[in-house]
Amino acid sequence: METAGFETDLSLFKYDNLEQLPPAYRELGADERTERIEAALEELGDDVVVLGHNYQRREIVEHADFIGDSYQLSKEAAAADADYVIFGGVTFMAESADIITDDSQSVILPSMEASCPMAGMAEALQVDTAWAELTAATDEEIVPITYMNSYADLKAFCAQQGGLVCTSSNAHEAFEYAFERGDKVLFLPDKHLGENTAHRLGLEDEIVDWDPWDPDGTTAAEAVDNDVILWEGYCQVHERFREAHIDQVRKEHPDANVIVHPECRREVVEAADVSGSTATICEKVAEADPGDTWAIGTEIHLTHHLQRWHPEVNVVPLCGDACMDCNAMRQIDPNYLAWVLEELVEGRERNVIEVAPEEKELAQVALDRMLEI
Ligand code: 13P
Ligand code: SF4
Repeated sequence: METAGFETDLSLFKYDNLEQLPPAYRELGADERTERIEAALEELGDDVVVLGHNYQRREIVEHADFIGDSYQLSKEAAAADADYVIFGGVTFMAESADIITDDSQSVILPSMEASCPMAGMAEALQVDTAWAELTAATDEEIVPITYMNSYADLKAFCAQQGGLVCTSSNAHEAFEYAFERGDKVLFLPDKHLGENTAHRLGLEDEIVDWDPWDPDGTTAAEAVDNDVILWEGYCQVHERFREAHIDQVRKEHPDANVIVHPECRREVVEAADVSGSTATICEKVAEADPGDTWAIGTEIHLTHHLQRWHPEVNVVPLCGDACMDCNAMRQIDPNYLAWVLEELVEGRERNVIEVAPEEKELAQVALDRMLEI
C-alpha cells in the first residue's frame, strides 16, 4: 500500500505558534475597547478589511465590513484589495483567505485558538493512509471532496487526487462535478453534509459510513461497494439537534417554519422545512413577512443576530436553551481584535496565517475548482 507521503502535524490547534493576548489587553472594558477598535480602524482606513462569519459574536460582527457564510467570505477575501484581511472566523477559513488573496496581502486571525474541531477530524496524514487503503480495494475512480471545514493540507491532497472543495451552499454541485469525472466520491470530513447531499441527489442507497480505524466497522473492500463513502467527522454544535426538537417547536408554534444547517443529522434535515448554509438561513429570515415564525437549527449566535436584525419576525432557537455556541468561533475575542488592530497601526503584524507555498498552490487548485462549479 503506497501513500502520497503527505507530511503534516496532528494537533488540536493547527497554529499553536500564534501569540497570546498581552496582559494589558485582557482587562479592557467594553466601552474603551470599542473606542480603540474604532480609532484603529479609522487610522488604518482602506488598508484593512474585517470579515465576520455569521457565527461570530456581536462585538465582532459590529466591526465587520462583510458578514457572511464561509463561501461568501472566501469570495470577499478574493475581492479584497486591502493589505490586511482580519478574519473573524476559524483557522480553516483564514487559511482559505490566505490561499485566495495575493501574496502581498496578510490574513490575520485575531486569536490562536479558533480551530474548528470538525476540521481536525480529517488530518491530511490520516486521509492519505486511508486513501491508499481505499484505492487499493477498487479499480474504479474515486474523487475526494473536502468540505471547506478542513485544513489547507487536506484541500491540497484533494486537488492532487483530482478532487475539490465545497461549502454547504454548493456541495451538490461538487458531487455532480465528481461524478462527471469519476465513479465514487469520498466525502470529508462531515458525514452529515455528505449524507444530506447524497440524498438530495437521489443516491440514498449508495451511501456508506467509513471509519478506517474502527476494527469492527466497514472495511475498505466493503466501502468501495458504494458510490458515496463518508468520512467519520461531524460538528458537535449541529449534532445536538434532534427530531424531537422539531416536534416540540411545532407544538409550541404550529405555524413555525423550521430551517436547519445541513451539518445536522439526516433525520433532522428531513423533518425540517428547509435546510441551507448560514447565508440561506439569513436570506429566509430576511424575506419573511412580519409576524412569521422561524425556528433556527444552527449555532446560537446567528439565531441571536437574526432576532436583533429582524425584530418583526419571531425568530426562535430550535432547541431553546440547549442550542450551543461554537467554541472555536467564540475564541475570537474582541480584546484580541483591539490588539491586532493597534499592533497594525504600529506597523506590527500579529497572528498572520500563512499556508506553506507548496500546499498553497495545490489547495488553490481545489478552491478554484469549487469557485468554477
Ligand atoms: P457556512 O458555510 O454555512 O457558513 O457554515 C460554516 C460552518 O462552520 C457551519 O458550522
Ligand atoms: Fe466547526 Fe461546527 Fe464551529 Fe462550524 S459550528 S466552525 S463546523 S465546530
